[in-house]
Amino acid sequence: MEIKKICVVGGGLMGRQIALSASIHGFDATVYDLKPEVLEAVQKWEDEYLAERIAKGRMTEEQVADIRTRFHVESSLEKAVQGVDCVIEAIIEVQEVKANFFRQLDQLIDENVIVCTNSSYMVSSLFKDCLKNPSRLCNMHFYNPALVMKFVEVVQGPHTSEETARAAYEFCLAMDKKPIWQKKEIPGFAGNYLLAGLTQRAKYLVQNGYCTPQEVDTALEYGFNHKMGVFRMQDLTGIDLCYTIAKNNYEKTGEKPDMFDVYEQMVKEGRLGRKSGHGFYDYE
Ligand SMILES: NC(=O)c1ccc[n+]([C@@H]2O[C@H](COP(=O)([O-])OP(=O)(O)OC[C@H]3O[C@@H](n4cnc5c(N)ncnc54)[C@H](O)[C@@H]3O)[C@@H](O)[C@H]2O)c1
Repeated sequence: MEIKKICVVGGGLMGRQIALSASIHGFDATVYDLKPEVLEAVQKWEDEYLAERIAKGRMTEEQVADIRTRFHVESSLEKAVQGVDCVIEAIIEVQEVKANFFRQLDQLIDENVIVCTNSSYMVSSLFKDCLKNPSRLCNMHFYNPALVMKFVEVVQGPHTSEETARAAYEFCLAMDKKPIWQKKEIPGFAGNYLLAGLTQRAKYLVQNGYCTPQEVDTALEYGFNHKMGVFRMQDLTGIDLCYTIAKNNYEKTGEKPDMFDVYEQMVKEGRLGRKSGHGFYDYE
């Protein structure tokens, strides 16, 4: 089994970059999104990104022309998944929304198509009952920005076949990523499981008045040489996604996470991080 043609569902921060990264590395990639305006934005972003690569001398006109033949946007899910070997889901981090999407997708694809979720925390076994053939389902978790970051987790659940996980892993290698193949599921996988520990401590320090978010980042960036402290990284991730994840946890455990009200307020005020120009830091 080899992946050659993919569909990425969700043209947001992650989906568009996963798809373009795949096209750059020789795969045919189509982005599907519920919202036509997102697809328009994806097309514009792709044009600008590739033009900039030429301007910076990183790609030739011929290379870009070739990449463009492999990158598509499509507003019909049915058409977007036609003839693909793999679908990568990159929609909102809400379990029921993802489950509904997988049920809808299952009606449209052959049961041999590999289905991956780019979820930040949810293991794929949460969705195994949504598909006729759960042996084709696994996690493929890219890091932001997916065009740049090399690390990817391929997570094989108990329902995932060895063949599926291998094809997913090899696809990541062919995209010049540095993947790991986890053979046991844990929410957040290796990366976000580790990061959650650090983030929890960071939030504790802020919630209890020991430090400001910026001081926590200074400790991590200048004391431990982290490229970004946790709050600077959350601005990159998107405060809305951080809030959704905190809310999911709150609903599941009944325990209010530290700084929950701060995130709620930031979302209300539209301070979503880099994408809105303001978050824990200002970007204008
Ligand atoms: N932002 C990050 O740093 C990051 C990193 C790794 C993984 N992730 C994960 O990737 C996924 C997407 O995150 P994002 O930051 O790109 O989100 P985003 O909000 O930027 O984009 C999500 C897109 O999905 C679309 N969408 C929603 N429901 C849909 C549906 N049913 N069908 C088609 N399109 C639909 C929305 O219109 C939107 O354009 C989430 O599961 C998130 O946890 C995010």
